[in-house]
Amino acid sequence: MAANGRNARIVSLGMSVPEKIMTNADFEKLVDTTDEWIVQMTGMKERHYLSDEEATSDLASRAAAEALERAGVDAADVDMVLVATATPDMLFPSTACLTQHKIGAKNAFAFDIGAGCSGFVYGTVVASQFIRAGGAETALVIGAESLTRFTDMTDRSTCVLFGDAAGAAVMQVCDPEVGLVDHYIQSDGKLSSLLTCPAGGSRTPASHETVDARDHTIHMIGNKVYVNAVRAMSDSVMKVLEQQGLSGDDLDILFPHQANIRIITSVAERAGMPMDKVYVNIHKYGNTSAASIPLAMYEAVEDGSLEDGMLAGTVAFGAGFTWGSTLWRWGAGDR
Ligand code: ACO
Repeated sequence: MAANGRNARIVSLGMSVPEKIMTNADFEKLVDTTDEWIVQMTGMKERHYLSDEEATSDLASRAAAEALERAGVDAADVDMVLVATATPDMLFPSTACLTQHKIGAKNAFAFDIGAGCSGFVYGTVVASQFIRAGGAETALVIGAESLTRFTDMTDRSTCVLFGDAAGAAVMQVCDPEVGLVDHYIQSDGKLSSLLTCPAGGSRTPASHETVDARDHTIHMIGNKVYVNAVRAMSDSVMKVLEQQGLSGDDLDILFPHQANIRIITSVAERAGMPMDKVYVNIHKYGNTSAASIPLAMYEAVEDGSLEDGMLAGTVAFGAGFTWGSTLWRWGAGDR
């Protein structure tokens, strides 16, 4: 909370997934894998895939429009649009600007946040700082990804993992007793090479060779990412709780980034959280990167798992590496 008594809260959520569904059985036909391996090793059963006509900003716009409608907020009253994405429509302009235009948020400033799968955690923290400082009254924070556009469909160790989706949050100024309680975000580029999309940027511009080498797709050393994800995510949850003199017992619900069910259960165990307080929907969507946490929060509001008065946590880890955690006192506290 800021000294001026202004805090920021999530007022409403929206989500969007493309229609097409890829099941584990579909992957059995494409690569040397089995439904049993995928379920056991990742917890995934289905994921959604963009159609040829869709792009990240389409998903972002649909999720944003739903969140605005649920909040009863006119797009013209949005002050800032943040799109957290590692899979933008194009290198520039930003997907946030494209989304801003599509939804008619004509009075907003807009920019992308590049923090990989931690993007929604980063985005809500950034928007909260603007709102608390009086630089914005209403923000749209959207996690939107089209990872399947950057997936090597011949690589069984990555192609089964990812799905496309967007989740959006309308954030507004609120009284201090609700909203963002605390946050902890960190980055470290030292191990960045473990998870990359190597070509298409200024280091290795697009060429026939880069396309032939599939260097425009996700390259990941999965087992090393896994170990780092478990450590950083559990440390983040414990750190943000510690900052408030709290423990895992005090949290009513935790929304972890949905990358792998085994990562989620290890993080819960280390953070002292029973799994019945940990929200999981990875079986339906796979890893949707920056979209996974708002998707989970959206579904938790819908099914009644996230209610006013609860202390809710988020925790994520992603390419960069980036990681972090937020704590929210859920509920209305309009000013
Ligand atoms: N089907 C069958 N076998 C497979 C598959 C598959 N789809 N994928 C890999 N394997 C095999 C490997 O080839 C390997 O076989 P080998 O022993 O004969 O060489 C074996 O399984 C073990 O491979 P590992 O990579 O060591 O398996 P691991 O236990 O690490 O599980 C996984 C792989 C699921 C990818 C895991 O490493 C993981 O989830 N890592 C983290 C991924 C992640 O979270 N990434 C994103 C974080 S950031 C973000 O969300 C963008």
